[in-house]
Amino acid sequence: MLTTAPRGTRDILPEEAAQWQYVESNIRQCCLLYGYGEIRPPLFEHTELFLRSVGETTDIVEKEMYTFRDRGGRNITLRPEATASTVRAYLEHNLYAGPQPVKMYYLGPMFRYDRPQAGRYRQFSQFGIEAIGTQDPTMDAEVISVALDFYCRLGLTGLEVQLNSIGCPKCRQDYRQALLNYLSQHRGQLCRTCLSRLDRNPLRVLDCKEEGCQAITADAPRMLTYLCSECDEHFKAVQECLQSIEAHYVINPALVRGLDYYTKTVFEIVWPGLGAQAAICGGGRYDGLIEECGGPSTPAVGFAMGLDRVLLAIQKAGAAVPAAKTPLAYVVALSAADNQEAFRILTRLRRADIISDKDYRQTSLRAQLKAADRSRARYAVLVGGIERTQGMVAVRNMTTGEQHEIPLDQLITFLQEGR
Ligand code: HAM
Repeated sequence: MLTTAPRGTRDILPEEAAQWQYVESNIRQCCLLYGYGEIRPPLFEHTELFLRSVGETTDIVEKEMYTFRDRGGRNITLRPEATASTVRAYLEHNLYAGPQPVKMYYLGPMFRYDRPQAGRYRQFSQFGIEAIGTQDPTMDAEVISVALDFYCRLGLTGLEVQLNSIGCPKCRQDYRQALLNYLSQHRGQLCRTCLSRLDRNPLRVLDCKEEGCQAITADAPRMLTYLCSECDEHFKAVQECLQSIEAHYVINPALVRGLDYYTKTVFEIVWPGLGAQAAICGGGRYDGLIEECGGPSTPAVGFAMGLDRVLLAIQKAGAAVPAAKTPLAYVVALSAADNQEAFRILTRLRRADIISDKDYRQTSLRAQLKAADRSRARYAVLVGGIERTQGMVAVRNMTTGEQHEIPLDQLITFLQEGR
């Protein structure tokens, strides 16, 4: 137990972390381009926030939250997602009083007590954006476009955008009744969870992963045919915007999403190569959530994507990730007596921004050169011998084997010019 990470968590070691950093730098670049500023909300919130926003009848709230009482008796939950926190921050800091929309992005770990498998973890990372304060359909299209541009930067192709509208509370009322009537005729075939949710929130049944329930919901009435004229027009406008920027999508009338706060536009982006965990991004509008949390009526739209899945996808697709940086110089001590001087020179190189390293085992010249080779350094800087007494070092090109004697005070310039 002491030597294994808890189930559903994992370590990201330096080699893989380099890929994460590459993905993260693309996220920051993309968000800069589109005008989203970073928000860093806390990793835990009052449980109540998620009950109110994500919804009491969702899988997240019913089965997946890491909830505990802290030493002060507060009910606390490790964040399963960050839309709720972003909305809470928007209200707490009166961001509604400034220019709208407020566009923010976040990046970091989320926690869900999910059944772990490849691409599904109990601690996973999300990149999400939220645009709060407008119902303009171009904003829905922008949000989808941020995700698509990001995948394009990573060289990830073969994605499918699935789009739907789940209307507003007004038009959903009629739909809810129609759905309830339909599902009530099939009570006998629904799973226990769906039965318990049926009367409180029949829409949740549409999101059930049980085969039996899916067979029933396949023929259930669809929300799209119940949209009121305002929601219908909005949905059409979103589609026109997407078409105008050549963002391809398919309409999936069965898409409802697993969180309760959505209104109007909902979407998921799927990379089929990931099988059961193909959903790499999900989002939509949540025009009622800010008011639900006690703020002024404010429309909003956003998405979150699972970065663990994005990483898996680029690894599976063989999309190019720049190689991790290797040292320019590897400093080698010719004898034990030169170790300290090697360290002093190494430190000077680092202070001059030269990626460099040395062997710390106080070992033979041969072993140090082998280590230099393994580090894939471009040059070995040999410290010691007669050169040292003359204030010189020998610099060996590790690819050609070519060697130069360089005065110590010219070493940095020599390496910088060769870089
Ligand atoms: P979500 O669909 O629950 O939406 O999660 C978004 C994405 O997070 C999923 O599409 C998936 O890629 C990833 N994800 C979810 N659970 C796991 C897991 N256990 N392991 C690995 N990846 C996972 C939300 O979280 C909403 N807050 C999205 C949103 C933002 N809607 C509006 N704004």
